[in-house]
Amino acid sequence: MNTIEWANGKVLLLDQTRLPAEQVVLEIGDYRQMIEAIKMLRIRGAPALGVAAAYGIVLGGQAIRTDDRGPFLEQLDTVVQEIVASRPTAVNIAWAADRMRRAIPQTGQASEIRSALSTEAAVILAEDITINTAMGAHGAALIPDQSTVLTHCNAGSLATAGFGTALGVLRAAKEQGKDLKVMATETRPLLQGARLTAWELVQDGFSTTLITDSMVGHFLSLGRIDCVIVGADRIAMNGDVANKIGTYTIAVLAHENNVPFYVAAPTSTIDPAMETGDAIPIEERAPEEVTQFRGIQTAPEGVGVANPAFDVTPHRYISAIVTEHGVARSPYTESLRLMFQ
Ligand code: MRU
Repeated sequence: MNTIEWANGKVLLLDQTRLPAEQVVLEIGDYRQMIEAIKMLRIRGAPALGVAAAYGIVLGGQAIRTDDRGPFLEQLDTVVQEIVASRPTAVNIAWAADRMRRAIPQTGQASEIRSALSTEAAVILAEDITINTAMGAHGAALIPDQSTVLTHCNAGSLATAGFGTALGVLRAAKEQGKDLKVMATETRPLLQGARLTAWELVQDGFSTTLITDSMVGHFLSLGRIDCVIVGADRIAMNGDVANKIGTYTIAVLAHENNVPFYVAAPTSTIDPAMETGDAIPIEERAPEEVTQFRGIQTAPEGVGVANPAFDVTPHRYISAIVTEHGVARSPYTESLRLMFQ
């Protein structure tokens, strides 16, 4: 089953909250259902969120009753705004919404707009797989043979339309015959590393070791990790990277231990409007994600909780950023600009 598919006027999603215990496919026929799936992390990971947003807009367009262009576009705009607001950090949602807006034909009634939107969403989905394969080809050279690579959160097939960003690089390196071992952090509080990355890697035949987030410094200091590779939710033009909470800690520890720290992300994750990482909005999630585990209370009632889902790693800790167009290195203000050209 793919992460996300379009079939018979509906979106099929593999519900990532149920993995790895159960493989449940959700049929999404309404854009509000898609917003719920995005907010609940049934689908997650920046590039996959871009595809989900695009199909959410298609579903929103299908539900609008009028065929008159003006009123149709007005109602579609509300749908787009609701979808863009569903998760704030991954810029791929706004990027996909922008692509969908630009795909609207200059003339024509609602039926023609609906059809153009469907076509564009299918292009976004197909392109994502091609982009990940290209990223894999560029990034594989960074991964040494006979090495142990650390990754955090899930930047694999499940975070994209297929193949993955950081895990795509590892898949490409493995396809080249490199002998790799992967260490995956469990990724508190929602365990994307334990539930999703470990699941993907074991299925793909990678030698995989799961560690808790707080073991990273220990293994880096022992020389047991040769490089780190992660994905990204938003990259500023100076190379600052927002990614899953804990990424910053890993990057600083990698730097301290002279271990290269790589980021793999498509250019759709680079935000040209963001000069530095300081202004990247950081999603704050429900306190229950920290005080409970699957409904079981693990902290006392009344305790204060902070639950930012992402952090920003300053560009000085990042050895290289892999995109579908090549490998960018410092100074990122120049190298990332070239990625757009
Ligand atoms: O909260 P999530 O699971 O959506 O967070 C996902 C991440 O932080 C990923 O590392 C990032 O989106 C890169 S996905 C290729």
